Amino acid sequence: MNSKEKVFLDESLKKVYNPTDFREIGHQLVDMLADHLEHVQTDSDSPVIRFKDPEEELSYWKDDMSSETNMMDFYKKILDRSIHVHHPGYMGHQVAVPSVISSLYGLMTDVLSNGTGVYEMGMASNALERIVTEFVAKKIGYDTNASGFLTSGGTLANLTALLAARRAKAPNLVWEEGHQEKLAVLVSEEAHYCIDRAARILGFGKEGIIKVPTNESFQIDVSVLQEHLDQAKQNGLVVIALVGCASSTSTGSYDDLNALANFAEEHNLWFHVDGAHGGGVVFSEKYKHLATGIEKADSVVIDFHKMLLTPSLNTALLFKQSEDSYKTFEQRAQYLWDSQQSREWYNSGKRTFECTKLMMSLKVYAILRMYGEDIFEKNIDRLYDLGRVFAQILKNRAGFELLLMPEANIVNFRYVNLPNKDVNAYNSKIREALLKSGKFYIVQTMIGDQRYLRISIMNPLSTENDFEALLDEIENIAQTF
Ligand SMILES: Cc1ncc(COP(=O)(O)O)c(C=O)c1O
Repeated sequence: MNSKEKVFLDESLKKVYNPTDFREIGHQLVDMLADHLEHVQTDSDSPVIRFKDPEEELSYWKDDMSSETNMMDFYKKILDRSIHVHHPGYMGHQVAVPSVISSLYGLMTDVLSNGTGVYEMGMASNALERIVTEFVAKKIGYDTNASGFLTSGGTLANLTALLAARRAKAPNLVWEEGHQEKLAVLVSEEAHYCIDRAARILGFGKEGIIKVPTNESFQIDVSVLQEHLDQAKQNGLVVIALVGCASSTSTGSYDDLNALANFAEEHNLWFHVDGAHGGGVVFSEKYKHLATGIEKADSVVIDFHKMLLTPSLNTALLFKQSEDSYKTFEQRAQYLWDSQQSREWYNSGKRTFECTKLMMSLKVYAILRMYGEDIFEKNIDRLYDLGRVFAQILKNRAGFELLLMPEANIVNFRYVNLPNKDVNAYNSKIREALLKSGKFYIVQTMIGDQRYLRISIMNPLSTENDFEALLDEIENIAQTF
């Protein structure tokens, strides 16, 4: 290009940054979302989901692309065609019902769009990240040697923790030399699938993920750990880590973390706790006993976007020894920081998998600042209490079977008043009919070879009446079979 040529700025690019558009559309959007929140909380007839088949949904949006619509119509369509986690009938996957303040900070962080991995690209965000993670570390029971960071989701956090475990416990430096041994981790058969995935990403192969059976309460069976470890050694594997669930995904069961910590210490294994779902009990006086022993873990994952009122994704990964977290990714990136060796908490990218990272800390900090430190405790207590209430209601109702008294806010049950019918198949049909009715959103799971309906009570505004209404609805559906 000739240096004298003028560079043309298209008017539409100026429009992209128009503050007036931002103000106008933003005000309307906030009003619309506030109406939505009011609506789902007060109008019992509003659906939690208007379910459409995937192909139908796809063709709807393909048509939309070529249609002339204003932005508010578009937002309205998105709202109508999305699941509503603020609805009291939302009892499905473990996604927090986000507090309004954290959602508003979401808007702010998207406007600022700080990359945060490098200090200057997120000064406030990095400082708040340190405050938030130190707060969590203290609640876990760690001392001042601990530290951590925020990352995008439990899946990534578990992978990062196992990378740190490999760095700390593998006999060779895999990061530099590649695999010299066949490495492995010990984990409950009830662990979330992301642990299996992480082990495979780490190059352990399917042999390297040793699934330990669980007892009747779906906790890892501590009594068979030794034989699994011995067998692994005989098979030529080097076991580097033991993973505990706090809690498991399917049933919300807490492993005996104390026993696991002792076993790990005895055998020089890294002890990691996947507390993505239930690690938040560290905030609760009433329920923290479920995770006794968590303070002995080398690393802990806790999702703010599950039990802690924060929009997805927002996860804390904590290390008992801060030093371990800095060793995971020893890599040079000259354009980002001067030396990889120096341990700078404010350059959070040194320790995370991510390079550019969302400004997650603001959302958590905003909740603590606006509602006080005990808001997480109140949410955990309410949701776990409701789990017990739902189980009790279910026990008193003929025709239903409860899998086990829940430890967390996850309850598995099924409808069994189905004479001469396949209970598994018909519980699936019940769940499908519920999805299509849009009145409730629940999920299903397999326990052994049995199909169960599964609820995670995520909405603190759900009540006993909602639970009774859900069970009434299931009975009504069963009548139609
Ligand atoms: C116990 C457990 N670990 C990890 C995950 C994965 O977390 P994320 O969805 O934040 O990646 C889940 C998700 O449900 C979970 O229940």
